[in-house]
Amino acid sequence: MSNLKQEYFLEIKELQDEIDRVKRENEALTRKLQTYHEVSLHLSESEKRFEQLFNISSDAIYYFKISENNISAGKFIKINEVAHRRLGYTREEMLGMSPADIDIHAEEEIYKILEDVYTNRTFTFETTHVCKDGSLIPVEIMTDTFDEKGEIYFLTVCRNISDRKKAEKIIHNTKEQYKRLVESSPNGIAIIQDDKWVYANEAALKLFGAKSKENLLGVNIYDLLDPIIHNEYKKITTKDEAPTRTNIYWKTIEGKELHTEIISMPFTFRERSATQLIIQDVTEQKHAEHIMIQAEKMNVIGEIAAGIAHEIRNPLTSLKGFVQLFRAGTVPNQTFINIMETELERIDIISSEFLTLAKPGNINFTSLDLQTLLKDVLALLDTELYKQSILIDMRVTTENTSVRGEITQLKQVFINLIKNAIEVMINGGTITIILANRSGRVHISIQDEGAGMTDQQVSRLGEPFYTTKETGTGLGLMVSYTIISNHDGEISVQSKLNEGTTFTVKLPSI
Ligand SMILES: Nc1ncnc2c1ncn2[C@@H]1O[C@H](COP(=O)(O)OP(=O)(O)OP(=O)(O)O)[C@@H](O)[C@H]1O
Ligand SMILES: [Mg+2]
Repeated sequence: MSNLKQEYFLEIKELQDEIDRVKRENEALTRKLQTYHEVSLHLSESEKRFEQLFNISSDAIYYFKISENNISAGKFIKINEVAHRRLGYTREEMLGMSPADIDIHAEEEIYKILEDVYTNRTFTFETTHVCKDGSLIPVEIMTDTFDEKGEIYFLTVCRNISDRKKAEKIIHNTKEQYKRLVESSPNGIAIIQDDKWVYANEAALKLFGAKSKENLLGVNIYDLLDPIIHNEYKKITTKDEAPTRTNIYWKTIEGKELHTEIISMPFTFRERSATQLIIQDVTEQKHAEHIMIQAEKMNVIGEIAAGIAHEIRNPLTSLKGFVQLFRAGTVPNQTFINIMETELERIDIISSEFLTLAKPGNINFTSLDLQTLLKDVLALLDTELYKQSILIDMRVTTENTSVRGEITQLKQVFINLIKNAIEVMINGGTITIILANRSGRVHISIQDEGAGMTDQQVSRLGEPFYTTKETGTGLGLMVSYTIISNHDGEISVQSKLNEGTTFTVKLPSI
């Protein structure tokens, strides 16, 4: 092969290599382009999604650039619709503004916040935005920063918290009102936790004679409760029922007696269960009630006194007769002596019964038997019953007729009820008294055969001065109701016109 030919071949070979290299490069470039294309497709897809999110968000979203040297905010670069609509601007108007133009704070304060955001990268804070018309919107701002080509941008999501602020204000106001109401209530209001006073309003402090909160808070409640009331208090604070009024006796810090009515209810204090007490001082009221009961008792005593005088005169007459017989020379035999002894006993019973009733004693609760009590009461009313031709039919259907109570006050109640029955039975008849025990309560029914009452009359019973009698005071039943309620009992009435009336007294049995 000639040299020329050889050179020619070599050149062709080189050219061939060159073509191959360019081909390979071309292929690589195509592949790269392909990837770029895919990436750019993907990018525009997420940009689209971001754009969508940006526009459908119910929060205002915007971003702006800041200059790093003096941390000052530039104009908004991009804003969503909520951002400008909420403040009442058009998109163009708002794009000509910067964050300092929409914030209530002074520019320097905003830059201070932005500086914080910049150093902490993300940040949440609350501020107030000013609308175009001057109205204010409380907002919560969540902001993040990002760098792009050496520039710093702030991306901000801004939530309208007017509703939340309103709700917070309502809660705050309600709390304040409740606090003021509790603090200034004329009733004592207190919270007891683990048997200790943990809160007491002014009125409660005053009631217990505490000079300051420290005097009472932390003190064990049982230190101030009258020992006779300890069990009662335990009962009312451990049951989860609807709040009930209960009579509670205390000793104040200074040792003075305090009679209150309390309403107790379960409460949560510092996330733990407690008891809230509403305490009403009834010392004065109970004192007045006591005077009223005493006065009415005197009235009852006055009314039955005539009958009793009669009751005593009968045996006295027979005794006088015996004395005359003996003076005339009759020798007293065993029969005479027995009769005289019975008559004397009768005088003794009636006069001492009358005296115990009339004695103005202190209130003294003891356990007593209602059957015996009723027999004593009937002894006082004997003459009255005899005069009106009324028989007593007493039926005892239970062994347990014991209650805790004030003996003279309970006697006063039964005298009132039986006297009312006597007064209504103008044609005589039978008063049936039934003693029973139902669900832990002694029931004493006094059933007459009198004229009965209409529903309207029944509804007026217990009203002070309600009477249909010429010489009645209309206080008998009112006082009876008060006494029975002070004994944690109740009185119910059933009446039928022309048939009669039944009063039933119910008292807790012991
Ligand atoms: N058993 C009864 N049957 C019918 N009505 C009665 C009966 N008990 C009471 N009432 C009615 O209730 C009224 C009030 O009774 P309450 O005992 O309070 O007063 P009073 O009997 O009228 O007067 P006081 O008791 O001072 O003598 C009576 O006037 C009477 O109208
Ligand atoms: Mg009466």
